[in-house]
Order: sequence, then C-alpha cells, then structure tokens
Amino acid sequence: MKVRNLAIVGLQWGDEGKGKIIDLLARDFDLVVRYQGGPNAGHTVRRQNEKIIFHQLPSGILHPGVQNLIAAGCVINPETLFSEIDTLDSLAVNWSGRLWISKFAHVIIPHHILIDTLREEGKARPIGTTRRGVGVCYEDKLARIGVRISDLIDEDRLSDRLKSLISYKNFLIIDIYSGEPIEDRKIINQYLEYGERLKPLVVVDPYFLRDFQSKRILFEGAQGTLLDINFGTYPYVTSSHPIGGGITASLGYMPERLEVVGIVKAYTTRVGLGPFPTEIKDELGDKIREMGNEFGSTTGRPRRCGWIDLSAIRYGAIINGVKRVILTKLDVLSNLEEINIGIGYQGRDDRYDPTVENLIPVYKKLSGWREDIADKRKYEDLPSNARHYIETIEEITSLKVIGISVGPEPEQMIWQEEV
Ligand code: GDP
Ligand code: IMO
Ligand code: MG
Repeated sequence: MKVRNLAIVGLQWGDEGKGKIIDLLARDFDLVVRYQGGPNAGHTVRRQNEKIIFHQLPSGILHPGVQNLIAAGCVINPETLFSEIDTLDSLAVNWSGRLWISKFAHVIIPHHILIDTLREEGKARPIGTTRRGVGVCYEDKLARIGVRISDLIDEDRLSDRLKSLISYKNFLIIDIYSGEPIEDRKIINQYLEYGERLKPLVVVDPYFLRDFQSKRILFEGAQGTLLDINFGTYPYVTSSHPIGGGITASLGYMPERLEVVGIVKAYTTRVGLGPFPTEIKDELGDKIREMGNEFGSTTGRPRRCGWIDLSAIRYGAIINGVKRVILTKLDVLSNLEEINIGIGYQGRDDRYDPTVENLIPVYKKLSGWREDIADKRKYEDLPSNARHYIETIEEITSLKVIGISVGPEPEQMIWQEEV
C-alpha cells in the first residue's frame, strides 16, 4: 500500500542524492514541501542529460501537476530564489500557480553572507560553511531580530525592520570582524522590489496545508541527519533540523500517517570540516571522488570521500524512525577490488556517538564487482557481489533497502518495494 505522506531525509552528511529521488517520486504526490535549510542546499535533478541544481526551490517543481511549498522552517535568499525561477522560465517550465512561499520563512540579507564569510576566514577553527549566510540568518531568527517574508511584503514594516537589522549587522561587521559595512539604502530598495514580486506567492502554512489533508505530501529534507544542529557532529553542523522531527516544527501542521524514508549513499561523503571516521585519506578516496563526481553542488568544493558507516546509519535511522532506505550511487563502487563496510569502532561498542571525536572504524571487507551496473533495472541482474553488499547492509542495520540508484538519470533505478 502506498504511504500517504512521505519524507525523504539524508542519513549521512548531505548530498546523498535526495534531489534525484524527490524529483522521481514527486509525480505521484500532490505537494512537495521544502521544510528547512536554505541556499546552502544543492539538490541535483536531471532531464535528458541536463543538470538542474535547486538551492531554494523544492525539487518537485519540474512536474506540471505538482504543487510546491517553501515552508516556515526555511531561510530564503530572494536573489537565489529569483535566479532559480528565471532558470525555470528559460526551460519553459510553467511554475505559476504551483509555487508557494511561507510568510514565516526568514530572509537572508547580504550582511548575513558577509558575516558568514568574514567569520569563516577569521576563525581559528572554521566550520567550512557554504558561506551562504544561512547560519547567521537562523541566529537572527532565534535572537528575534530577523526579517521574515511577512515583513518583506509589507512596505511600511520592511524599511524599519531592515534598517535596524542592517545597522546592527554593520556595527558587528566593522567592530568585530573588521570588514567594510554594506550601505542600507540600496538593499532596502532592492528588498522592497523582491517583496512586490513575492507577494502573490505568499501563504500562511497551516491554512495552506490543511487543504492537502486528504492528499499526498512529499517532504524534502535538505542537508543530512549528521548535520542536524542537535544530533549531528556539533559544532560542525548546519543551523537547522534536517531530521524527520524537524518537519512538524517547521510547518505549523501535523501530517497524518507520515513515513520517513532514509537516503543513503553507497559510500560516505562530507563537504566542510568535522569528524568523519570512515574517511579514506589516500588515492582511493581521490578515485571515488572522481568516479562519483563528488564536488559540491552549491560551492564546487571537493567532497571528502569514505566508506559507508553502518553504525552512523543505524544512529540516523533511530533518530528519524526510518525502517526503509534508498541506496544511491551504487554504480560508483563498481570496479573496486575490495569494499569496506564500517561496522563499529575500535575499543567501543558499535554505537555511533557524534560527540566522540577520533573514532577509529572497524571494517568488514567484501569483494567488489567488475561489471558496470548503470544499465541494470532488476535486482536479480546485479552482480552477485553487489547483491551481497546490499544484503550485508540490510542484515547489519536491520533496514530494508527498497530502492537502488545506479546512475544520475531518473530511470537509473532498481525498485524493490513501492513507496
Ligand atoms: P542531494 O544534495 O542529496 O540532492 O545530492 P546532490 O545533488 O548534491 O549530489 C548528488 C550527485 O550525485 C548529483 O550530481 C546527482 O546527479 C548524482 N547522483 C544521484 N544519484 C546517483 C547515482 O545513483 N549514481 C551516480 N553516479 N550519480 C548519482
Ligand atoms: P544538501 O541539501 C552537504 C555543510 C557545510 C558545512 C556545514 C555548515 O545539498 O545535502 P552551512 O552553510 O549550512 O552553515 O554549513 O554544513 N552543508 C552541507 N553539506 N550538503 C548540503 O546540503 C549542505 N548544506 C550545508 O558544508 O560543513
Ligand atoms: Mg547537495
């Protein structure tokens, strides 16, 4: 039986291939909701070998019959948003009447981006942020000094709100970070213009979502569980809740019958700094980066590559209530002599704990497979060592692998169960 509402959540450090899966599943849903994060995300969707990367827009936007919402828990850079809308126009994708923006979402201003950058450059221990101002915008949200979409569409309120935020941010830029202030007049005019353009798209989430009560909603997680502000590798995390639990707080709505399906890359990548127990630091790591084209979709930075860490996956599955997962990028592991699977850590039990630094992994070694699997569409057609790899993952984690992605194109999928 099909689940009514589904959430797609990354179980690693992001870039698991969520964009491809959401685009693929979206056609069977009425609404796709991006519930957290901002332009730090980069979700890749492919159309006839063309690559489209969504940073702000929900990845269901290419499907004519599907509605899309950027919900309250998100932060929005209007410039990024409008440049993505321009891309849709250039692709002749009709988004009108299908794209909605929460009144409660917070707005990123150039000062957020500048402070994010100055801080990263000045820090003794930088985080390796995407420098998109996302964390700084969330800081202002929690400090209750932020500017929201509801302010942006209200001409009278916007000038006051922006002026006081900008003067405070400029003070920090000059006095704390020794940077050059950004003048407010140009920005106020620019943001007033953005507000005018956004006005027709703005909704109050609870009322909007109530109309989808008997329909199917697909929730799109950005980042990944190990980047969660609470349960990730703090402080090397993002500033929001990518986990399934983040959905309701970011929404103002309690979806009925919600299943969270985890997306797991067949190996692990991480972009930015922070602990990564199964990282491969030699040429093999470089080879996997090349094979998997592991360069950031948002920043172009080379991603750190390593083996799959099943203890960390199990940890993520508990947090998200995940029982079923989709395994992506299995094709990238073809042609390796031997594949390692992280099953625990030296001198400890097999429980992953992100607060413990310097975990040294214990591996189970499996033989690789030589055959290219990108054109396989049936489980039985996979080489026996590839099937053994999947079944070992299932056995050790007690999770069911319901889908296997064997290439970036939407049709490059093997399904074991429907969602
Ligand atoms: P996301 O942030 O989770 O949406 O993932 P990204 O889009 O940042 O990174 C995933 C990258 O892998 C993109 O370039 C996808 O086109 C690509 N991709 C997704 N699934 C597969 C797959 O099964 N095999 C291969 N080779 N590439 C894939
Ligand atoms: P998607 O949705 C991978 C990482 C950054 C940095 C940390 C904090 O494409 O999977 P931030 O800019 O959020 O303050 O940076 O989080 N990060 C991601 N890594 N994929 C992402 O998104 C990421 N979004 C943020 O590299 O380590
Ligand atoms: Mg990404």
